Amino acid sequence: MKQKQTWRPNLASRLHSLKERIRPFVENVLNYLFSEMHYVPGGWRANDPAADGWKAEVVADAQEKHWPTLVRNLHGPEPLGLAHFPWSLSREDRTHHNVMMSYGYVLARAAREKNNISILDWGGGAGHYYLYSRALLPEVAIDYHCFDLRGLCELGRRLLPEAQFYSDESDLRGKTFDLVVSSSSLHYFENWHETACKLASATREFLYIARLQTVLSTPSFVAVHRPSRPGYTELLSWCLNRREVVRCFEESGMELLREFVYAAPWAVRGAPEMAETRGFLFRPKYVETSPASAELWSGGDH
Ligand SMILES: C[S@@+](CC[C@H](N)C(=O)[O-])C[C@H]1O[C@@H](n2cnc3c(N)ncnc32)[C@H](O)[C@@H]1O
Repeated sequence: MKQKQTWRPNLASRLHSLKERIRPFVENVLNYLFSEMHYVPGGWRANDPAADGWKAEVVADAQEKHWPTLVRNLHGPEPLGLAHFPWSLSREDRTHHNVMMSYGYVLARAAREKNNISILDWGGGAGHYYLYSRALLPEVAIDYHCFDLRGLCELGRRLLPEAQFYSDESDLRGKTFDLVVSSSSLHYFENWHETACKLASATREFLYIARLQTVLSTPSFVAVHRPSRPGYTELLSWCLNRREVVRCFEESGMELLREFVYAAPWAVRGAPEMAETRGFLFRPKYVETSPASAELWSGGDH
């Protein structure tokens, strides 16, 4: 008579399953211990030097030095797994590739049936999204406008004379754009609700909030980033509750068309929840009735 065979895990498969069970725990502990972000109790501290971290000269200097590498890496048919960060030297980074191709999707939707498209890049640094746009969609002419702090705008004007740079937001009053982009920038604005309303009011067709520092369960909180890499200083930012963000844009007359995820969540030391970057593509609920409301735009050079 044939004996029924029962499968018994051998030593190798038991070790493998132990490793799989331990791995997330070890990863979480390491992620937490080496995290460069720290929870800030009590909300935004406007007089904290980290609130002005982006004004540091090292930021523009590092981006200027990296520019030739960025331009070179955007040339030709190889993968676009790259970024403007001074340490991003290759074209093979999967997360950067995800960010880039997500933007390519947004650009393609915004440029549908157009030969040219106007873009406002809010917190766009020295204008690297202009280079990305040309590499991703060379068939369409890009009328590129970038808002950022004075030092980065000055650098942008030197590097990209064909683009428009604004460090005084009142210069944008009344202007609207086919596509408004805010990539990893909204969370650096103390009054992010107000900034969100401005972005919505400047949007003619599509609004892309990319790489936003987000939490899913806890209310929005503030964190300080203490970067270990050169080219950055301490930075204060929000980790924004996803639902608060979507509601805020919906109340500004937008509807969510597509949501994006980019990379694994990371630990914020002392915070109740891990943070992650998410993206949101919105469009005005009623495209033709979304004029820029002039009273939103204050003066003042940044
Ligand atoms: C993380 S970088 C993002 C750069 C680019 N958008 C990207 O995703 O690669 C954040 C940008 O927001 C800008 N920024 C932060 N606070 C700002 C402010 N108060 N006014 C204007 N720009 C600001 C910074 O100068 C910086 O260029």
